Amino acid sequence: MERGTLQHVPRSIKSSTDMQFKDQFLQKLKYAKRIVFFTGAGISAESGIATFRGADGIWNKMKPEELANFDAFMKNPDLVWEWYQHRRDIIHKVQPNTGHFAIAEFEKFYDVTVVTQNIDNLHKRAGSSKIYELHGNIERNYCVDCYESYNTPNFELTNTAPRCEKCGGLVRPDVVWFGEMLPQDELESGDKAAAWSDICFVVGTSAVVYPAAYIPMSAKKGGSYVVEINLERTELSRSVDYSIYGKSGEILPQILEQAKNLRTDL
Ligand code: OAD
Ligand code: ZN
Repeated sequence: MERGTLQHVPRSIKSSTDMQFKDQFLQKLKYAKRIVFFTGAGISAESGIATFRGADGIWNKMKPEELANFDAFMKNPDLVWEWYQHRRDIIHKVQPNTGHFAIAEFEKFYDVTVVTQNIDNLHKRAGSSKIYELHGNIERNYCVDCYESYNTPNFELTNTAPRCEKCGGLVRPDVVWFGEMLPQDELESGDKAAAWSDICFVVGTSAVVYPAAYIPMSAKKGGSYVVEINLERTELSRSVDYSIYGKSGEILPQILEQAKNLRTDL
């Protein structure tokens, strides 16, 4: 079977363990030192968390401007809080999947940085150690007036918007809402890691939300080999070095397996 023709391998004979990767990519994988995984909602899809766009996407059912912004929260804090509480409930019931676990295991072989747009905390639960969260984390909350932190599991979660014990202000989830700045230190660190990386995997993101979507571009500009893993083509496909189409929970463990073999030969 010819290498580098993943898309041309007939589905019927392609078992989940005989995926063929491009030689150029395998060479990069063999000698790389620093790897960045830039992830989006797609990496958590196989855990059972809905993505934002696409047929079943959250933004098809909910209007972001009614829920994911500060004015909406101040106008109707209980409604917005309840929605995040609902998402927390879902996240607490699910587990990281084989994609998250593979990324964590890459740390045995490389200097790995995860730069994620997800707020679901699943990379941390899977064991990744260096994670920059560009859009915040649903397990953290803070007071809108005095910025006191209220983080799970030490914070009892209610179905209505809680009040700050220190000043009585409203407590909000520590996630980035529309119109808000991203945490600048996380963004800058993530951007630097991408620019210095040898390989940047862009996993399960439509790559349309900025400034997060600049991360793969910084990687490319810095000379990194950019590999996209997605179910389908995205905005980014034409500018990456290699696109691998399929489920991240199936593809990442196979790349990890290849890496293990390649690194033991060194
Ligand atoms: P999207 O919902 O826009 O995109 C998810 C991507 O994952 C799509 O390109 C899918 O094709 C792909 N996908 C789905 N299942 C997959 C699987 N099993 N394996 C591989 N790929 C899969 O989600 P994001 O790109 O993360 O921001 O969205 C970016 C931001 O938009 C989010 O962080 C959120 C949202 O508005 C804020 O809330 C600030
Ligand atoms: Zn307060």
